[in-house]
Amino acid sequence: MVCIRRATADDLLQIQYCNLMCLPENYNLKYYYYHILSWPQLLYVADDNGKIVGYVLAKMEDEKTEDDPEIHGHITSISVLRPYRKLGLATKLMQASHNSMVECYDAEFVSLHVRVGNRAAFTLYSKTLGYEIHGIEEKYYADGEDAYDMRKYFKPPKERTTKATLKKKLNAEDELKHQMGNQEEEEPKKEEEPKVEKKEEDKGEAKEEDKGEGKKKKRNRKKKK
Ligand SMILES: CC(C)(COP(=O)(O)OP(=O)(O)OC[C@H]1O[C@@H](n2cnc3c(N)ncnc32)[C@H](O)[C@@H]1OP(=O)(O)O)[C@@H](O)C(=O)NCCC(=O)NCCS
Repeated sequence: MVCIRRATADDLLQIQYCNLMCLPENYNLKYYYYHILSWPQLLYVADDNGKIVGYVLAKMEDEKTEDDPEIHGHITSISVLRPYRKLGLATKLMQASHNSMVECYDAEFVSLHVRVGNRAAFTLYSKTLGYEIHGIEEKYYADGEDAYDMRKYFKPPKERTTKATLKKKLNAEDELKHQMGNQEEEEPKKEEEPKVEKKEEDKGEAKEEDKGEGKKKKRNRKKKK
């Protein structure tokens, strides 16, 4: 019986083999390790009594910027060995990875690229899984074929991060950091010391300390920028 489970590092050679059997887009082993070490929750395999017959390789794009304010997942590759196709395995692999993107990373959407001529995969994504075409990338593949850039949103529009909400959030974070910085810089009030006439060498030491503190404050200010 075939079961869907999370991939482990021990599966990577078989995943690579499955990829070589099914797709012209191939990767070196290092790239598989990079995925499993970075996003271990997102890689799933279809396992038929120890034989890997399908896999999904996925990652997160989790740097929020003003231009790209939404944290999202990306399907790097998926395939199922020929004798195991049309059994619903790709659907299950994709759904498992989607669920982990939401549960573990709070992903707002997932993206992928697919050859415009790959009818089986396009139907899987659009009809079965609810992806929509977001754009076309011309000559995306090495042989010159175009790719559909597809997306599936996990959250309704109202709950998504927009450029405006991200800007607000970043401003609030900056303000908080600024306030905390000011608190740190506020010097504790000194108790009034009895006035004692200082010797000449003491005065010199005090001057050196002042210089040092001045430098430290300057360094702190630079860091905050
Ligand atoms: C695309 C691929 C992963 C689908 O795997 P699968 O396990 O057969 O897919 P599923 O059984 O989950 O199919 C789900 C739906 O996808 C669609 N689908 C799958 N194979 C299809 C085909 N040959 N033609 C048309 N639609 C197809 C159907 O709508 C299907 O639902 P249905 O069975 O109710 O009709 C598999 O064909 C494959 O490995 N292809 C080679 C690698 C590849 O192209 N990967 C995608 C790169 S972007």
